[in-house]
Amino acid sequence: MNKKFKRTLITSALPYANGPVHIGHLAGVYVPADIYARYLRLKGEDVFFVGGSDEHGVPITIKAKKEGVTPQDIVDRYHNIIKKSFEGLGISFDVYGRTTSATHRKTASDFFRRLYEKGEFVEKSSMQLYDEEAGQFLADRYVTGTCPHCGNEKAYGDQCEKCGTSLNATDLINPKSAITGNTPVLKETFHWFLPLDKWEPELRRWILEEHKEWKPNVYGQCKSWLDLGLQPRAVSRDLDWGIPVPVEGAEGKVLYVWFDAPIGYISNTIDALGDDWERWWKDPETRMLHFIGKDNIVFHCIVFPSMLMADGSFNLPDNVPANEFLNLENDKISTSQNWAVWLHEYLEELPGKQDTLRYVLTANAPETKDNNFTWKDFQARNNNELVAILGNFINRAVVLTHKYFGGVVPSVSVLETVDTQLIGEIEKLKTEMSEALDTFHFREALRVAMDMARAGNRYLQETEPWKVSKSDMERTGTILNIAIQTCANLAIAFEPFLPFMADKLVKMLGLGKITWDMLGSFDLVAAGSHIGEPELLFEKIEDSVVEAQVKKLQDAKEKNKLAAWKPEEVKVNVDFETFEKIDIRVGKVLECSKVKKSKKLLQFLIDDGMSKRTILSGIAESYEDPSVLVGKEICFIANFEPRKMMGIESQGMILSAVNPNGKLTVISPSADVAPGASVG
Ligand code: 2FM
Ligand code: ZN
Repeated sequence: MNKKFKRTLITSALPYANGPVHIGHLAGVYVPADIYARYLRLKGEDVFFVGGSDEHGVPITIKAKKEGVTPQDIVDRYHNIIKKSFEGLGISFDVYGRTTSATHRKTASDFFRRLYEKGEFVEKSSMQLYDEEAGQFLADRYVTGTCPHCGNEKAYGDQCEKCGTSLNATDLINPKSAITGNTPVLKETFHWFLPLDKWEPELRRWILEEHKEWKPNVYGQCKSWLDLGLQPRAVSRDLDWGIPVPVEGAEGKVLYVWFDAPIGYISNTIDALGDDWERWWKDPETRMLHFIGKDNIVFHCIVFPSMLMADGSFNLPDNVPANEFLNLENDKISTSQNWAVWLHEYLEELPGKQDTLRYVLTANAPETKDNNFTWKDFQARNNNELVAILGNFINRAVVLTHKYFGGVVPSVSVLETVDTQLIGEIEKLKTEMSEALDTFHFREALRVAMDMARAGNRYLQETEPWKVSKSDMERTGTILNIAIQTCANLAIAFEPFLPFMADKLVKMLGLGKITWDMLGSFDLVAAGSHIGEPELLFEKIEDSVVEAQVKKLQDAKEKNKLAAWKPEEVKVNVDFETFEKIDIRVGKVLECSKVKKSKKLLQFLIDDGMSKRTILSGIAESYEDPSVLVGKEICFIANFEPRKMMGIESQGMILSAVNPNGKLTVISPSADVAPGASVG
């Protein structure tokens, strides 16, 4: 921590290119990484911020199979969506690469070969699950079964998502192939293993002794892994999608996705910087930081560092500020259930609102524990904080400067206590902000930045330039000069968090290049200079906007329910005589209305071919307007024992079907039938 570094390499987890990114990814990884990169750049530090798509692994091949396309088609599609959406949100990567690039294939192959030639791998045969029908070994997600730890029946071959335990496919109870659904058999195969146990003493010293400053969630997870004792890990797989293992006798084997993915950080640096890449990876004066989510901790703190140690020429990460998870509307985000807010859709549906999302995700960042995103909170934070506090202060300062001084920044005469208090407060808040940012406490830093805007509002409230202007233009000028300088400070303080707003403000105030050093100064906008017209920096979000988003989520839930629906088991058989006892007939609906004081009952008047009869049916909740049933032919049980409900006698039973969503629909013949006709 106290070491002096010349430059910082920031990596952010490479998202799998088998789907778009959602707010959980953003809050956990990309927004914090971007805040930090922007902060360091403002401080004038040398930064390189690496991103890219992770384009290997089994889920991509499963998706391709399902869609009848190639894995390359899948990753091309999602790489482009993801890259564009990150740009849209202002994530300021210096490079955004992909692991299907030629550079990556070469870098990862060379890395493997170097370790192989140094004898860093152990080659081991083992029994693996094999799908005889598909003629394929079942790596990782190609096999599902019951978790031996928690009993979850839908655990994957590499991990149980319920209890979070990392598994081997052969650990699963009652395993099933995801390709054919068959029970796999055990068949011998061999793989290369990285002996993590060899690096255990060094990892213990490096993490547990030298990096006690790491976040407790990260340090704690590493400690429990290390205390359990490390085992060799397979770094190859029997698959046809991935980077071929570059040694003889390895036909049909590819590098395990978690072996090649972190090397992607290196390949992407090489792609962007050419020969200069080594400085960023090997010079001890470079500091490396991995921004990741909590499910990636073991790979970035134990597995990848072991690979780097085995190579021997690379730096190890200085810190891994991993976050916990973000929930959505109090439920776990689920990509397969479409319980997510997808970034590319957000950018389309709420155009120009990038900073609002960045703000809300930072204010609710899952830094120390899982956190929750709700659309109601999103709206409240936008309207009550961005609009009412930050936007309101800047708008008042700019509007008043135009009103009283024609948009020319007035000069300062004598400073009063209220002025120096504000200046002192901004300075103090800058120190607090820097401390929070330096230690990756971005929520706290954002809260402090907002306190600067609060201080600005308080200042205008106390000084009341609109009143002072009636008698003292010199004092009014001083107040508005200070207010405008405060706006300039806000442009700097908020740049890492709200870059779109900051950019507009910088232009409005004519600030030119801003730096972190400038924060706290009160001569940022020269007296006599012209500022731009007031421009609305944030706008209120109406109820209808968030209601539409909540509805979209509810619709997704509904769709999932339908997709998961299965018909009930068939009841025990009945003989013909029993069936014959039930007299089902067709009737014509003459009248249909809701029964007063009953939520459930509809009252039908039916032409049964002989006379008219009244039947009550508990389907009112499925028919908002019962008159739609008038004139329809329906089926009913004519010999159902009459019974009284709500004081009305019901003479039969209307037949209706229950939809998976709980809605009831009356059963009608598919062509005209005379009322009274028997059904059987
Ligand atoms: O968990 C994930 O989404 C992985 N694709 C992260 C990879 S990070 C790195 F190693 F590339
Ligand atoms: Zn489990």
